Amino acid sequence: MRIQSHPILEFPSKKSIPFYFNNQKMTGVEGDTIASALHAAGVTTLSRSLRLHRPRGFFCGIGKCSSCLMRVNGIPNVRTCTAPLHENIHVETQDTLPDVSDQVSLPSSLQPKQDVTVDVLVVGGGPAGLSAALEAVSYGASVLLVDENQMLGGQLVKQTHKFFGSKEERAGTRGIEIARQLTSELEPFIDRKKIQVMLDATVIGYYEGSKNLHRFGIVQRKGYHSVLYQVDCRAAILACGAMENMVLFPGNDLPGVYGAGAVQTLMNVYGVRPGTTVLMVGAGNVGLIVSYQLLQAGIKVDRVVEAAPVIGGYHVHAAKLRRCGVPIQTQHTIQEVYGTEHVEGAVIVRLDHQWKPIQNSEEYITCDTICLAVGLTPSTRLLSQIGVAQEFIAEAGGYVALHNEAMETTVQNIFVAGDSSGIEEASTAMVEGKIAGFSAAYNLNYTTDDQIRKKYLDQLECLRAGPFGEKPRIAKQKINELLVKQV
Ligand code: FES
Repeated sequence: MRIQSHPILEFPSKKSIPFYFNNQKMTGVEGDTIASALHAAGVTTLSRSLRLHRPRGFFCGIGKCSSCLMRVNGIPNVRTCTAPLHENIHVETQDTLPDVSDQVSLPSSLQPKQDVTVDVLVVGGGPAGLSAALEAVSYGASVLLVDENQMLGGQLVKQTHKFFGSKEERAGTRGIEIARQLTSELEPFIDRKKIQVMLDATVIGYYEGSKNLHRFGIVQRKGYHSVLYQVDCRAAILACGAMENMVLFPGNDLPGVYGAGAVQTLMNVYGVRPGTTVLMVGAGNVGLIVSYQLLQAGIKVDRVVEAAPVIGGYHVHAAKLRRCGVPIQTQHTIQEVYGTEHVEGAVIVRLDHQWKPIQNSEEYITCDTICLAVGLTPSTRLLSQIGVAQEFIAEAGGYVALHNEAMETTVQNIFVAGDSSGIEEASTAMVEGKIAGFSAAYNLNYTTDDQIRKKYLDQLECLRAGPFGEKPRIAKQKINELLVKQV
C-alpha cells in the first residue's frame, strides 16, 4: 500500500519500525503514525462500535473525530491517526468501553503540572496560526504556538497544488512548500526564545485567569505519557481549523469511507495509498484537487459525483480531471455503500431539480474507497468554552464566533483566524492570521501603527473579489451585522 513513485513528492526508504497489532508482529516506518502504519500493512479496521460491534476505520485523519481510537500499550482511547509509531508498541482493537483497571494505570503516566506565562497563545499551527504567530512575534510579543500534530503546517503539509492569488499570498507555490517556508521563518524567533512551539499537544480547557490574563490547560503527549501545562496569556488567537462534514447514507461508517483530508494525509504525508479505486463525492475545489492527487498517487478515480447542478470548484481543476478521463457527474449523489468489513461498492443515484433521487436511475460502482469532500465545519469548541458569542451562518460553514475586522471576538483579547472563523481558502487564512497576530500585538501595545492592518484588510478584499469570494463576503458581512447588534 506504500506509494512507490510520485510526480511531485519523494518518499525515500526509511528505517523499519516493528510493532504488534493484536499480538501479531508488523512493521511500519519511521515517521508513521500508528494508523498510517496499519493502513500500509493493509489493516483498515481500527476499532469496533460499542453496541453493534460494527467495524470502524479512520475518518478525519487529523485527530478531530473518534473513529481511530485504539488501545496502545494498555492505554485506551489513543487517537492513532495522530499518535506516532514507536518501536515494539502493542496496539489493540477496542470494541468495549475501557474497564476500571485501564483507568487505574493512567495517573502514573501523568507528570506534575508546569506553568507557562506568555504574551500571546496561538492555538493551531496551520496557515492561519503560523501567520498569526509570525506577525505577533515580529512586533516583540512572546508567543506560545500549540498544535495537536507532530509537525507544523496544518492542512498545508498535504497540499501539493500551487496556490492562486498574488505574491503576498505566495501564489505559484505549492502548499507543502508554503508550510516549509512559514515554519523556517519561525526558526530565528525560536532560537531567540521569543516563540515556543509545543507539538503533539491539545488545549483541553479554558479557566478563569487573574489580572487580565486568560488561562488555558494544555496536555502535551510525550511518547504515551502526558505533561499538563497551565498557560497564562495576555491574548489568545484561536486558529483551530475545521472538521470534515459527513453525508448520511447506509454504510457510511464502514472502513474505506474517508474524509478528503484523511485521504490527502495518508497519501501526501505518509505515502500510503488509501485504496485502489475511489468514488469521490463532491466537486468543490477540495474534491477536484484531491481527485487529481489520487491519480498522481497511482489510484483510480472511478468518477466524481456532485449533488448540485454545477461544479463548485475552479473549472481549471475540473478540466485537468476530465483530460485524465475522470467523469464528473453533477446532480448525482451517493445512496448507499456495500461491504461487510470494508467498502466493496457503492450505489449512486441521479437527482431531480428538487434534489430528490430519480427512480430507476441507480447505478452500482465497484470501489474500495469513498472519499467525502462535502464541506467543512469550523472548529469552535474552545471558543464555546471561553464564552464568545457565536451564531450559525450557513455561508461560513456553521457556528462561528462573532468577530470584528481586527479578528477580535466578543471576549477582549481573544482572536480567531482561518477556518475556525468561517470556511475559506488557505490564502485568506494566512492573511486573517496576520491580522489577528497584528491586532494582538497592537492591543498589547507592541505597536501603534494601525496602517498595517489596513494593508492586510485590502489584501483580504482582493482575495474575496469575484464570484468564488461571494460566500465568504456574505458570511463576513453577516458576522459584522450580528456583532453590531450584540454590542
Ligand atoms: S480522530 Fe483519528 S480519524 Fe478522526
